[in-house]
Amino acid sequence: STPVTILGIESSCDDTAAAVVRGTPRNAGILSDVVFGQTEIHANFGGVVPEIAARAHAEKIDYVIGQALAAANTNVTDLDAIAVTAGPGLIGGVLSGVMCAKGLSAASGVPLIGVNHLAGHALTPQLTDGVEFPYLMLLVSGGHCQFLLVEGHDSYTRLGGTIDDAPGEAFDKTARILGLPQPGGPSVEVAAREGNATAFSLPRPLLNRDDCNMSFSGLKTAILRARDDVISDCGGLPTQARADLCAGFQTAVTDVLVAKSRKALTAARALAPSVKTIAVAGGVAANSQIRDALKQFCVEESVEFVAPPLSLCTDNAAMIAYAGLLRFTDGMFDDLTLSARPRWPL
Ligand code: KG4
Ligand code: ZN
Repeated sequence: STPVTILGIESSCDDTAAAVVRGTPRNAGILSDVVFGQTEIHANFGGVVPEIAARAHAEKIDYVIGQALAAANTNVTDLDAIAVTAGPGLIGGVLSGVMCAKGLSAASGVPLIGVNHLAGHALTPQLTDGVEFPYLMLLVSGGHCQFLLVEGHDSYTRLGGTIDDAPGEAFDKTARILGLPQPGGPSVEVAAREGNATAFSLPRPLLNRDDCNMSFSGLKTAILRARDDVISDCGGLPTQARADLCAGFQTAVTDVLVAKSRKALTAARALAPSVKTIAVAGGVAANSQIRDALKQFCVEESVEFVAPPLSLCTDNAAMIAYAGLLRFTDGMFDDLTLSARPRWPL
């Protein structure tokens, strides 16, 4: 097929992002990839505040799109399509992106394509590593936690996921409980290096259940109790105990993700016997212990392990542009009735 140029727009959580991707489904390149993160804006609130996020998206989105087009040396009229995250996510943010994309499309006549944010994550291994369908995807971030069998760009089977917190959320809450800075993932990982993972006995919820579902909220509660026990025994939280709790927590999350990956691989193979790859995405995929354990598991199972570069594992618009490119190739366009959907399962 002939190469096409797609603008991607992403604003479903706390990153305002735009990117230009050009190429064909099997050979696409990222011409530009601009992300304006809101971490500092929300830092004092202990989480993403939807109202503040929506306002920040609305303020920044035109600027971010302008930057992405300029960096790609592209005008709106050079585009073959404008792809935008239409959900799932925080509705105010998603609306900012969708309204902006509609405006650009209406003014320029460039076709509009609505993209599911989760499809963007799930298709990233194709963009970065050319992974072929079908593959098993483990999406683990602050907001998402699911196993997906990906058989095509519009063909997903959810094999399981968390029944409560996402693992990134559990890392962030654990950091807060232990007095470590946000985002919690990196600070827990650093503290865990000095810790003994077996010093405290921590639960691995749902580990022995035969499905691919996970639970992380009980683990967080166990950390809270263990911390309070230490404080009442020692009159404070010694650095070593904090490190031990971080190491124990991280190892418990790792054990659950690996055990459930084993079940998910079995489930995926039952539906699509030719699955040969497990790919990860999401901020938690940055964790070295989790990454190494999943890599080791893949070696044992003789499947390929793919982890896209971190900047494309976390929220970005290149993944939205690429998902849009795949829809473009199949003539899957939207019109100005495209709506923003806070909930939108794949
Ligand atoms: O994918 P992401 O940037 O945003 C969404 O949630 O969509 O993921 C952010 C999450 C945060 O909860 C953060 O604490 C976690 O990923 N994270 C990590 C690490 N780096 C980021 N979790 C564990 N270990 C890390 N090294
Ligand atoms: Zn995401």
